[in-house]
Amino acid sequence: MKRSADARTGDRPVVLRPVGKDNRAAILALELTPEQQGFVASNVDSLEEAGEDDEAIARAVVAAGRVVGFLMYSAPEDDDEAIIYRFMIDRREQGKGLGRAAVARVLEEIAQLGHIRRVSICYEPDNEAARRLYAGFGFVETELDEDGEMIAVLQLSSK
Ligand SMILES: CC(C)(COP(=O)(O)OP(=O)(O)OC[C@H]1O[C@@H](n2cnc3c(N)ncnc32)[C@H](O)[C@@H]1OP(=O)(O)O)[C@@H](O)C(=O)NCCC(=O)NCCS
Repeated sequence: MKRSADARTGDRPVVLRPVGKDNRAAILALELTPEQQGFVASNVDSLEEAGEDDEAIARAVVAAGRVVGFLMYSAPEDDDEAIIYRFMIDRREQGKGLGRAAVARVLEEIAQLGHIRRVSICYEPDNEAARRLYAGFGFVETELDEDGEMIAVLQLSSK
């Protein structure tokens, strides 16, 4: 039988939860491998940034009641573009389909806002895991930004 991403997450449905007192410590305890640490800002920095930026939407990635990852995006009301600019899954939880499930959830959440037509994401050009993960959702690589990061864009289908 073919194993799908859903089969890998099995009975661990993935949901996104707002960041709050109940999950902040768990988000700060998440880890990346040493090789991955240059791919994304630390969660300490991201939570501090989220606290200072009204447009930052921070989410805990929760599987079967446990925090397994973290992401952050913006989706300003006066714009039709959302930007996912932080995303990580704990090193001990990677390779189980949770990253893919989290991307699916955040794209659903963004689509439900109603005003977003396009989602952008950026990653280091040598981040093969991110490239493959996002390409699987239809993100198309466009150009390098001023920091040398690859920008990939997904057009949301109109309702
Ligand atoms: C990128 C990341 C979020 C993926 O999370 P994950 O839970 O391990 O991903 P999944 O198990 O859901 O895998 C989904 C797809 O991602 C790709 N992928 C994941 N890990 C990969 C790896 N080590 N090498 C190549 N592709 C990989 C594959 O296409 C995979 O699908 P497949 O298994 O059917 O081939 C995780 O590796 C991570 O946190 N990396 C460090 C932070 C980072 O790079 N964030 C993204 C840039 S902001």
